[in-house]
Amino acid sequence: MKNPTNNVLSIDQFNKDRMESIFTTAQNMQAQEWKLFPPDVEYFIEQEDILMSQTMASVFYEPSTRTRLSFEAAFLKLGGKVVTVENAFDNSSSRKGETFTDTIRAISEIADIIVCRHPERDSVLYMAEIAGCPIINAGDGSGEHPSQALIDLYTIRKEKGKIDDLKVAIVGDLKQARTINSFKKSLKNYNTTVVEYELEDNPNPDLSDVDVLYMTRIQVERRGESHVDVKPIDISTLKEDAIILHPLPRGPELPVSVDEDPRAAYWKQVKNSVPVRQSLFLYALGLG
Ligand code: NCD
Repeated sequence: MKNPTNNVLSIDQFNKDRMESIFTTAQNMQAQEWKLFPPDVEYFIEQEDILMSQTMASVFYEPSTRTRLSFEAAFLKLGGKVVTVENAFDNSSSRKGETFTDTIRAISEIADIIVCRHPERDSVLYMAEIAGCPIINAGDGSGEHPSQALIDLYTIRKEKGKIDDLKVAIVGDLKQARTINSFKKSLKNYNTTVVEYELEDNPNPDLSDVDVLYMTRIQVERRGESHVDVKPIDISTLKEDAIILHPLPRGPELPVSVDEDPRAAYWKQVKNSVPVRQSLFLYALGLG
């Protein structure tokens, strides 16, 4: 018997148990120790064969590097097939005047799951209503980015050994960054202390007792401004065992010189994005 499939629209749909089970599977995926024993099959399926008969469509109406490629890499690593439309306003039938509804309906007839990024907040909720297959929200305007929040928490858990009892400082675009929205909501499942600083107003936030520094760039494209004056972060008071996270891409807030600092964990975040998204696909397709 097949488990039901799941949309992934908001981080709100994940309680602590669900998140922990996604992290455990991701950890096993990363260690290459994962096998599936489906209820209706009498043998184990190896990691690289699990999604053999499935096709994922990645449909991106906004630019992306890490998110689109890591979703695609994750699906391919599980044996699935990937079809993709990037820059979808120009490169889909949207250019010929097709409605968003018809485009999504058509893609959901072709693919078994859709990963979508769109500039409009809540567009994914509408998609989920019309599509005949599960939808994963890869960023809806300034709304949410649930898979990024799972990657962020997974990285904290891996680097700090726990998520509970930590102090987290969020320094970034508090109004427009969807990664912050999802990250903040995800932390509510854990016993953390969270302090927030609007990046452009706080060039020197107090970081002296912080365990996790989470940064974002200013979302200039959503503000209709071409430039916002931002100073590089001062990490001179940050504890030795703290970690620095950033969903990337970076702006001037995170100078390249920080990359050499042992507390910088943002490239690890990128690395962790593939196993976490592998695990998320299993959940969305009812296999997790
Ligand atoms: C973020 C996004 O697209 O929301 N990037 C990402 O997915 N890793 C952050 C950003 O664009 O600032």
